[in-house]
Amino acid sequence: MTAPPHQPAEPILEGRSLHKTYRLGRVEVPVLKGASVSIGRGEWVAILGASGSGKSTLLHLLGGLDRPDPGSGGVFNRGERVALERGSATNRYRNRSIGFVFQFYHLLPELDVMQNAMLATLVPRNRLVGALMVLAMLAGGLAGGILGFLAAGPWGLLPVEERTAVRAWILAITTGILGGAVMVAVVQVVQSLLVKGITSRGPAAAVATRTLGDFGLDHRFRHRPRELSGGERQRVAIARALGSEPEILLADEPTGNLDAKTGREILDLLKQRHESGLTIVMVTHDSTVAAYADRIVRLEDGGVVEDRGSTPHGP
Ligand SMILES: Nc1ncnc2c1ncn2[C@@H]1O[C@H](COP(=O)(O)OP(=O)(O)OP(=O)(O)O)[C@@H](O)[C@H]1O
Ligand SMILES: [Mg+2]
Repeated sequence: MTAPPHQPAEPILEGRSLHKTYRLGRVEVPVLKGASVSIGRGEWVAILGASGSGKSTLLHLLGGLDRPDPGSGGVFNRGERVALERGSATNRYRNRSIGFVFQFYHLLPELDVMQNAMLATLVPRNRLVGALMVLAMLAGGLAGGILGFLAAGPWGLLPVEERTAVRAWILAITTGILGGAVMVAVVQVVQSLLVKGITSRGPAAAVATRTLGDFGLDHRFRHRPRELSGGERQRVAIARALGSEPEILLADEPTGNLDAKTGREILDLLKQRHESGLTIVMVTHDSTVAAYADRIVRLEDGGVVEDRGSTPHGP
């Protein structure tokens, strides 16, 4: 039986009658069958349910990481529909309003703690650098090729008797490859200098430094994720999610992969942020973890079967 959705006074995030069906070849797997949930500003809501009940699916829809079935309900941020249309409104919502925390952290192994925490700031620049890299490689290759060709050609450096078309092409290809490689190396050096600059000053760096410091990671800024414990990795992932100073944090089993003590430390960090106004939606299958929330929403058979208050702020 579906429970009537709890209506908070000031809803900030709503999923209305969400349907989600996955297709595996010809088989359709309906996971959400009209699930509705409404999250109030400043609330901490736990989504509980058995494994496979669609908790992660619901969270992904709420975060605009995935879309509900066409023609079914939608996701609304402050009353404005966000998840159905592609494009800038959804991107803005995802990047600014929402922070997402995954069970398995999803940190980038090649980036250090500070860079991971500042991912939201670095990613758009990385795309630009990627495009520049391709352009630089083509330009370097072309310039090297032309120079090589000229060097072997009529005005070239080779003695007249050695100037053959085959040699000209071989030289052009070799210098073209060299030119491309040199330009790629130059862009990489410039990129790493830029990343160092971005991650050491500016407002985003200040937010990341403060958050990592609050989470007890000040001595870890230049460490890679593989050098950290599970709890430390999750703290970096939460710092990353809070990097854009979102109003809502969506966390998918943030303690599911941690021992009880480390899990409590993570929940205490979330509790502090919640007390300073952060809205939290947290998926869990653990009722002790859910007890940290103000409200518990239980998913079963594709719908919300229970929506009730919890003991405020944990055990
Ligand atoms: N991308 C996908 N393609 C096909 N089926 C999927 C996909 N993602 C999830 N499912 C299926 O949808 C159902 C719900 O998955 P979901 O991950 O939302 O469950 P969950 O409640 O988060 O479970 P758990 O507690 O194990 O994390 C499962 O049966 C799963 O196999
Ligand atoms: Mg899940």
